[in-house]
Amino acid sequence: MTFDRSLKIAPSILSADFANFGKEIEAIEAQGCDWVHVDVMDGHFVPNLTFGPPLCAAIRKHINTVMDVHLMISPVDPYIEAFAEAGADVLTAHLEAGPHIHRTLQAIRGAGCKAGLALNPGTGVEDIDYLLDMVDLVCVMTVNPGFGGQKFIHSQIEKVRKLRAMIGDRPIHIEIDGGVTPETAPLVVEAGADVLVAGSAVFKGGSVENPAPYGDNMRAIREAVKG
Ligand code: DX5
Ligand code: ZN
Repeated sequence: MTFDRSLKIAPSILSADFANFGKEIEAIEAQGCDWVHVDVMDGHFVPNLTFGPPLCAAIRKHINTVMDVHLMISPVDPYIEAFAEAGADVLTAHLEAGPHIHRTLQAIRGAGCKAGLALNPGTGVEDIDYLLDMVDLVCVMTVNPGFGGQKFIHSQIEKVRKLRAMIGDRPIHIEIDGGVTPETAPLVVEAGADVLVAGSAVFKGGSVENPAPYGDNMRAIREAVKG
């Protein structure tokens, strides 16, 4: 994975057909996605349950781009090795998931993954000063984590702008997760984001039998960003 700040669209397979992950991933890649975003939920840190390392390992062989794994779990540390072995390229943990995020980020890099740090909408950027040299990505949650299809929280745009200034020249991606649409995407890209996760806005209207809408939906986001 080489670093650059060009726009990347990362469809969240939370909005895909769960009985068809392999084909859904092949469809979104064929339709031009940049990364594949995998939402891991534990029914404890967030009020929803999805999947774990065996599913990640199974879908890994269908991913030719970047496997971007978002851990909405607590604790994180006992599972890092398993997600790394499952083939995560980026492994993102929440600042709010436990008292020792510094150790968690060290362990993620130690396991050979790029380290991501996710912030809930209620968390300020002030707390991450001493973590910036340990991360490859900061994920700004623009909804409360747990479900797809929620409404974008506009107060987070200012957070992205502050974060972009703090990052300066460091090679750190700013990822936005939640409520990304052609309407909200330009606001966060203008504020400094480069990776846009989008679930419902990418998968709406399409299927593995009819994948063209996935491409149209991603193009609509890219075009909205270009202005
Ligand atoms: C929310 C997840 C998101 C979600 C985004 O907890 O982390 O990745 O799937 O879905 P949309 O784009 O529908 O808001
Ligand atoms: Zn996510």
